[in-house]
Amino acid sequence: MSDQSEVYIPLLDELIEAARAVRAKAYAPYSNFQVGTAVLGANGQIYTGVNIENASFGLTVCAERNAIGAMVGDGETKVTAVVVATSNGVTPCGACRQVLLEFGDDIPIWLIAEDEETVRFTTLHALLPDHFDQSQLGAMSNE
Ligand code: THU
Repeated sequence: MSDQSEVYIPLLDELIEAARAVRAKAYAPYSNFQVGTAVLGANGQIYTGVNIENASFGLTVCAERNAIGAMVGDGETKVTAVVVATSNGVTPCGACRQVLLEFGDDIPIWLIAEDEETVRFTTLHALLPDHFDQSQLGAMSNE
């Protein structure tokens, strides 16, 4: 992981607090693994999401994707920073990495654990190297 001091993001403290606070609202009765995510939109607004599980397990949606849904539903399609709060400070799953990439480039990501001390910094490109994104869809163009 890179060093946290590499990137300065305004509202980082607020973003961390939002991710921690929303985590308590996670609906995770099956895994008991609560995840809270806060994303900062290019418009300066903070959007949050929690993981929402289902008795049909495969229908579970991660916190990161729900936060992105809140942002896009508000009319913002650019993410400038992400904070993920979990019990142990883990990284976003592969599916969420790909979804984050849709709405940002090398997004700075902070991973927060419950102990309030463990804060790891990374970036989306570090988590998803050699990625596939919209720039590779040129061959699909009908123009
Ligand atoms: N989960 C997330 O919300 N985000 C991730 O990036 C990893 C996994 C959730 C899905 C499920 O509700 C629980 O954590 C255990 O996998």
